[in-house]
Amino acid sequence: MRVIKSVKEMQEFSDSLRNRGEKIAFVPTMGYFHHGHLSLMDEGRKSGDCLIISIYVNPTQFGPGEDLEKYPRDFETDRELSEERGVDVIFCPSNSEMYPEHYQTFVDVEGVTRNLCGLSRPYHFRGVTTICAKLFNIVKPHVAIFGKKDFQQLVTVQRMAADLNMDIEVIGMPTVRESDGLAMSSRNTYLKKEERESALSLIRSIKLAKELYDNGERKTGKIIEEAQKFIEEHPYTKIDYVKICDAATMNDIEYIEGEAVLALAVEVGITRLIDNYVFGNPLDI
Ligand code: PAF
Repeated sequence: MRVIKSVKEMQEFSDSLRNRGEKIAFVPTMGYFHHGHLSLMDEGRKSGDCLIISIYVNPTQFGPGEDLEKYPRDFETDRELSEERGVDVIFCPSNSEMYPEHYQTFVDVEGVTRNLCGLSRPYHFRGVTTICAKLFNIVKPHVAIFGKKDFQQLVTVQRMAADLNMDIEVIGMPTVRESDGLAMSSRNTYLKKEERESALSLIRSIKLAKELYDNGERKTGKIIEEAQKFIEEHPYTKIDYVKICDAATMNDIEYIEGEAVLALAVEVGITRLIDNYVFGNPLDI
């Protein structure tokens, strides 16, 4: 397994792979791996000849006052886990390599980023699409793999790749959960012991919503109300949003007709948790 820090070296390595006709699978990450990341790597291992991952905590997707400085990092453990998972290359650039002096270009996907997390984190998706576009130009993958836990991020990156004619297949993999149902996230490490039960209110409210839907409820207002009420009964919780949106446009909808997603963002103590469920699908638990 190679560890590459320079943009130029990464580009040259990817060029050599492409010249040999090898298919490049890419998993972009911010490190501090859990089983969700490992499942993306497993998929990457299956879908390409060469599996490249990136570990980079991207400053432009964090807003003022967010957790950029304290975002958990553990490169040595990540390196070992990557090696075990059959990763061929870790690309882990520095900030000055990715955003050198005089940097001034950003990619902004409009419609799908304006709702949900885009409302409470106004610069977040601009940072995500900018870094993904840069990473795609550096790693030159044929296929890029993202988790469905960050559903709006997946839709946004897919939108960007389609709109900018990037010749990359962007695929989403199911959310990986702890045995109690909590969606895996590097930020779960911020949760205090006494907050854990409250953190489970996200998946439990999703189950409640699924049950209402399975019993025929299609009015989003009713489902949202029940889910919100359930979450609010738990201590330490502060709802950012509970919404039901069209799964392609991310716009709020009043009735569930086509593909619709229930999306939640809840602060539990200082930890901001997100989760989602696409109606009609089996729940990945
Ligand atoms: O999902 C993440 O970990 C990040 O948003 C990503 C896609 C690696 C971009 O920094």
